[in-house]
Amino acid sequence: MDIDPASLSERDRHLLLTALVVPRPIGWISTLDARGRPNLAPYSFFNLVASSPPTLIVSIGQRDGGPKDTLANLRATGELVVNVVSDDLTAAMNASSVESGPGHDEFAFAGLETTPSTVVRPPRVAAARAHLEARLVDEVAVVDDDGVAHNHVVFARIVHVHVDDAIFTPPHRIDMAALAPVARLAGTGYARIGELFSVPRPEVPGGDG
Ligand SMILES: Cc1cc2nc3c(=O)[nH]c(=O)nc-3n(C[C@H](O)[C@H](O)[C@H](O)COP(=O)(O)O)c2cc1C
Repeated sequence: MDIDPASLSERDRHLLLTALVVPRPIGWISTLDARGRPNLAPYSFFNLVASSPPTLIVSIGQRDGGPKDTLANLRATGELVVNVVSDDLTAAMNASSVESGPGHDEFAFAGLETTPSTVVRPPRVAAARAHLEARLVDEVAVVDDDGVAHNHVVFARIVHVHVDDAIFTPPHRIDMAALAPVARLAGTGYARIGELFSVPRPEVPGGDG
């Protein structure tokens, strides 16, 4: 099958492409609006793009022709927290994706306790086993051939990291089975981590680099 993505409806294109770029990590993002009201929503057009400087991206679509609350809040306040979604938090993560207007508190809607962050103002999901506190550094519009922006990719610098002591061996080892991250597939599909394995990096035979 050969497919020209431009020949597909917007929905079919989305479902096809998001089923092929898998599994996607979920950035479960807390922000505050300009009035200090909390907001929480999951984003799977999300990734770590650099560790020096530590940088993540999230691509935020439109709602009713305007920015979703997460983007509006980032533009207003410039701070976010990424809460890692462990499998026991899947239902709450999904509840927090409810399409609602500014000022609707998804922490309360999803039955989640908050806990303060260390260097940014948005609160964290208390039940999450790890969190990345971050600050906005850039925003890039993803435009179509007519110059219309459908998504905005936000770049943010990670400024503080929290990891539950029970799953962490310094300086960098995370117990993946205990973190139990959930990943997004397409539509309502998700995946858990399956069998873990390790693959050593190749070296040139007999070479010195
Ligand atoms: C697992 C999951 C991943 C999602 N990923 C994205 C995404 O990458 N970009 C996006 O615009 N919306 C995404 N959504 C939809 C948003 O979560 C939804 O529009 C939400 O209401 C936005 O909230 P906000 O307006 O508070 O930012 C996703 C939803 C789910 C359940």
